[in-house]
Amino acid sequence: MTFQADQGFSTRAIHAGQEPDPLTGAVVVPIYQTSTYAQDVVGETRAGYDYSRAGNPTRTALEQALASLEGARYGYAFASGMAASDTMIRAVLRPGDHLIIPNDAYGGTFRLVDKIGVPWGLTYSTAPLGDLDAVRAAMRPETKLIWCETPTNPLLGIADIAGLADIAHRSGAQLLVDNTFASPYLQQPLALGADVVLHSTTKYVGGHSDIIGGALVTSDEALAEAFAFHLKSMGAVAGPFDAWLTLRGLRTLALRMDRHCDNAEAVAELLTGHPRVGHVYYPGLPAHQGHQVAAEQMRRFGGMVSFTVVGGQEEALKVCQRTSLFTLGESLGGVESLIEHPGLMTHASVVGSILQVPNDLIRLSVGIEDVDDLLVDLRDALD
Ligand SMILES: Cc1ncc(COP(=O)(O)O)c(C=O)c1O
Repeated sequence: MTFQADQGFSTRAIHAGQEPDPLTGAVVVPIYQTSTYAQDVVGETRAGYDYSRAGNPTRTALEQALASLEGARYGYAFASGMAASDTMIRAVLRPGDHLIIPNDAYGGTFRLVDKIGVPWGLTYSTAPLGDLDAVRAAMRPETKLIWCETPTNPLLGIADIAGLADIAHRSGAQLLVDNTFASPYLQQPLALGADVVLHSTTKYVGGHSDIIGGALVTSDEALAEAFAFHLKSMGAVAGPFDAWLTLRGLRTLALRMDRHCDNAEAVAELLTGHPRVGHVYYPGLPAHQGHQVAAEQMRRFGGMVSFTVVGGQEEALKVCQRTSLFTLGESLGGVESLIEHPGLMTHASVVGSILQVPNDLIRLSVGIEDVDDLLVDLRDALD
């Protein structure tokens, strides 16, 4: 073993699940681009692999690394964040069950629950997860799951993970935390009482805008068995090359996240008090509603900043089109800075619902470029 569970975050990011290849000594986990594996005797595999939907060594490496970084015993890598979300719902809930989702959830999560979960027999409520009393009030006898995002997409709301875990467990429900915005470097929900952590690894974990992927991690053996069974049975697995690229990104997560945070702090400072800016949403700002909780449960405050523009949607759209370094596009968490209008882009699926976002809102994924260049770009676009 080249790493131990108690070693530092970056040591584990680089070594967990990533022993030099036993056959050749290759220090980088190979891309096992194979669908099947030779067996010497019927039913006896050489290393536990029989078919790549059930298991693939490149995927295993990613799963072990992710589990280690979240302080979990088990990890599972999916074809997308939504595939991980779908698996969570089908593995844990049954028709008739109720779940609570944030009132500012990622639009795709809302669509999955509302358009696929409900016809399947689920019921759901939305609640402001930053308000524990509101969550308590939304609990029902048939509530089996609280689905938390913190920080939320795109309003950067903060929820108290330990408080939510307590509410869920007192009622025999479970808590899932979508940790996509924070990444395991900034926040480790299992240590705060969550039962499952979900990632869109497309974002900070992969970090280079070159893959779509998702993950579920847990330390609960029964949940782990259910995830493995559903992964194999439904087949929404991460392919070997995607798993390899994700692992390649994961190794530098700590370095990237610190730079994302440095740059986002400077961007939030620039926006705060700018005459063309209305409200700035960044949990690192002391005036942010969830600042205190974020300071307690996060290492730093992340690379996402949202803000409203004076002059409404028309002006917000103009700002989105005027930046040059901040590329107009969906997604987040890559090394390059992105700008988008959630109302018409990532969150179009919540238009007309209780989750509708302000139409003068802009969301920034602040990348790791030189911060001065980013500030000039934003200043020019706003002025
Ligand atoms: C918070 C959050 N969760 C889940 C997802 C879904 O992930 P994917 O796009 O990889 O399917 C996203 C995508 O934007 C997200 O932002």
